[in-house]
Amino acid sequence: MNPLPSHIAIIMDGNGRWAGQRDLPREAGHRQGAQTAEAMVEACHERGISYLTLYAFSDENWERPVEEVIALMQLLDEFVISKRDKMKKKGIRFRTIGDISRLPDFVLDSINQTISETADGNKLTLTLALSYGSRAEICRAIERCQKAGIQRITPEAIDAHLDTAGYPDPDLLIRTSGEHRISNYLLWQLAYTELYFTNTMWPEFSEADLDLAIDDYRKRDRRYGRVS
Ligand code: IPE
Ligand code: IPE
Ligand code: MG
Repeated sequence: MNPLPSHIAIIMDGNGRWAGQRDLPREAGHRQGAQTAEAMVEACHERGISYLTLYAFSDENWERPVEEVIALMQLLDEFVISKRDKMKKKGIRFRTIGDISRLPDFVLDSINQTISETADGNKLTLTLALSYGSRAEICRAIERCQKAGIQRITPEAIDAHLDTAGYPDPDLLIRTSGEHRISNYLLWQLAYTELYFTNTMWPEFSEADLDLAIDDYRKRDRRYGRVS
């Protein structure tokens, strides 16, 4: 059996369909999805997971209808403000990856305050991928290498200049809602990650579902190209 994953990454998908199935506006799905996110942060904290990285808003999600984008930004703002004290109390360090300079100023301010107030957290690093696209992140990393005067681009050099610099690669990636794709998430970091797909929509994803994914992961034979 593998030990518990140190780093879990999640593509939180299916909020809109969950709402549609109930004749609710998509925004209601996002609101319920934010509650699931909070529950999963707590569950990972309780289980001693060190890194949880949640895909909350992609580069491509900027192309959604403006009302949906605004609703998501407001929800995000509420989340980082209302969970700040709880994160501090629990030793959760809040971070983001992605090009957050594209976010509206009010959200950016709330995010930066939560990042600085939780910077000492040493139990769980909670990272939200916001305005995130993996291809853009890899380009940023190469540009940073060039600016740092690095002559030879190696995997280690790129690792050290990604937005996730210093993080271990994810051990387990979970995607909800029955889609079997990566959607421009952590393409570099997922090289040897174990993938887990479930049909459950994100607003309905539960602690028991998380445990099923972890149990499945623990039984996998991670060979890294070698023989077991
Ligand atoms: C995931 O749910 C949340 C975001 C992408 C912000 P979706 O909004 O993609 O929900 P579906 O895939 O349309 O059901
Ligand atoms: C991926 O979900 C992005 C997030 C979960 C934030 P999408 O719903 O945007 O991805 P596609 O369109 O199904 O690939
Ligand atoms: Mg989706």
